[in-house]
Amino acid sequence: IELNNNLCLFISVTIQIVFIFWTAWAQRTLKNALTLQTLNTNIAKNLILFLGDGMGVPTVTAARILKGQLSGQSGEETLLEMDKFPFVSLAKTYNTNAQVPDSAGTATAYLCGVKANEGTVGVNAAAVRSQCNTTKGNEVTSILRWAKDAGKSVGIVTTTRVNHATPSAAYAHCVDRDWYSDNEMPADALETGCKDIARQLFENIPDINVIMGGGRRYMFPRNTPDAEYPDMAKHNGTRKDGRNLVKEWTDRMSNKKGHYVWNKQQLLSLNPSNVDYLLGLFEPMDLTYDLERNDETDPSLTEMVDVAIKILRKNPNGFYLLVEGGRIDHGHHEGKAKQALYEAVEMDRAIGRADLMTSIHDTLTIVTADHSHMFNFGGYTARGNTIFGLAPMLSDVDQKPYTSIIYGNGPGYKIVNGVRQNITVDNNYQAQAAVPLVSETHGGEDVAVFAKGPLAHLLHGVHEQNYIPHVMAYAACIGQNREHCTTNGGAAGLRPIVSSIAALLTVSRLLC
Ligand SMILES: *[C@@H]1O[C@H](CO)[C@@H](O)[C@H](O)[C@H]1NC(C)=O
Ligand SMILES: *[C@@H]1O[C@H](CO)[C@@H](O)[C@H](O)[C@H]1NC(C)=O
Ligand SMILES: *[C@@H]1O[C@H](CO)[C@@H](O)[C@H](O)[C@H]1NC(C)=O
Ligand SMILES: [Zn+2]
Repeated sequence: IELNNNLCLFISVTIQIVFIFWTAWAQRTLKNALTLQTLNTNIAKNLILFLGDGMGVPTVTAARILKGQLSGQSGEETLLEMDKFPFVSLAKTYNTNAQVPDSAGTATAYLCGVKANEGTVGVNAAAVRSQCNTTKGNEVTSILRWAKDAGKSVGIVTTTRVNHATPSAAYAHCVDRDWYSDNEMPADALETGCKDIARQLFENIPDINVIMGGGRRYMFPRNTPDAEYPDMAKHNGTRKDGRNLVKEWTDRMSNKKGHYVWNKQQLLSLNPSNVDYLLGLFEPMDLTYDLERNDETDPSLTEMVDVAIKILRKNPNGFYLLVEGGRIDHGHHEGKAKQALYEAVEMDRAIGRADLMTSIHDTLTIVTADHSHMFNFGGYTARGNTIFGLAPMLSDVDQKPYTSIIYGNGPGYKIVNGVRQNITVDNNYQAQAAVPLVSETHGGEDVAVFAKGPLAHLLHGVHEQNYIPHVMAYAACIGQNREHCTTNGGAAGLRPIVSSIAALLTVSRLLC
């Protein structure tokens, strides 16, 4: 009887604690949410866009669980840095000619403010992919340009090539995202006067303050051995025009506190207070996956973001920074969820670093994705199940185990002796897919847009993706829409409009 009593007491206390825990948590959250009714209508001096390439909502959730499990927790309850952003919206990602988009057309949307055709960067929807003669007259400029024109410092940090789809829409106008250097362009496009993207990086907006990522090979003449891999011919320079874009840049920057670096030691030995321009090219093509990164020679995304902000924030007019976690997408295309999710966790770490270095009072930070992937996880896994682990039961059809993570299509589709392959998970494991493809595809559903800082609340509800730079520019008083900026301060700038509408309504009510 005594044992039963103790047991009852234990159960009742446990129920109480569980009740108190979730109730207290919800009440705390409610209290925080109520403070958000006082809107932050400051002018955004600084703008930061974190773009997780291919980081759909299932990727965000899985990265959250991974982050928690990497620090010894169950994972589901963990908060990503982006989870702490107070405002979230959904973005519709389709391209003008595609229901399921690519990274070029979407980059044009969230950087230049107009939707575009897939495969094109920095040109509007009248430009046709690969047709050089449709470029002229259809160029659109990006928020990076608007910020530069307004006297801000600007930067691009990516884990892909600096002339890859996402960053290139910030500075280039190109009907084909694959025209990395003149070597990748058809002869008729060159004859018609189209320029490769690497060249446009240095010519269109000549004074981008910070450029970091990969893509060295596209900057050097053909047959130039790579600085880091001099014995590997495949990493030789690619340029047919014989130009050395890095040398041209360093020459131009020689009396402007400009520095070129190509490895981590060089990067971290810089004193950012003595650097106004930085070009960091850390690999011949994309940077390595963070999971496989050589920590001696290659900087992490977080380390690059840290240096970038230290350089950019010296400008009293503020800055615009584009940060791309660019290889989440590549991991997914390969069906390698582990690579993709570690990339997402590293980008989240970079978001945390930027948060420490900036203030919500003067910095609008947005985290989003260009598009999703055919990635998901499920299978009634128990709380705390390793995110790369198996569902708890065997398939009741083929009696084999299956992982929680599954791709809708991709290279993980494997039939052995006429039946589904059994599972052996390692670091390079390609999660199983329903349809065989060499490269897994993008997904078509909306992506999340997390926002904090001045006017972050304008990112609410469901919107077209090209809305994002319009909000960012408005908040920073740059670009086309700045009437609200001429009166003192952002808040004061918005209120006269609201109050004059109210006055108008009152007058009309009195009169009518
Ligand atoms: C533009 O170039 C394409 C080939 O890329 C050609 O088929 C087309 O006729 C050209 N259009 C004009 C107006 O020159
Ligand atoms: C790479 O560059 C080296 C040095 O100039 C040259 O000898 C070699 O032929 C090049 N290889 C390729 C494939 O371009
Ligand atoms: C699948 O592999 C596991 C070990 O990873 C093994 O225990 C199991 O028997 C295998 N199942 C089948 C149906 O081959
Ligand atoms: Zn992709």
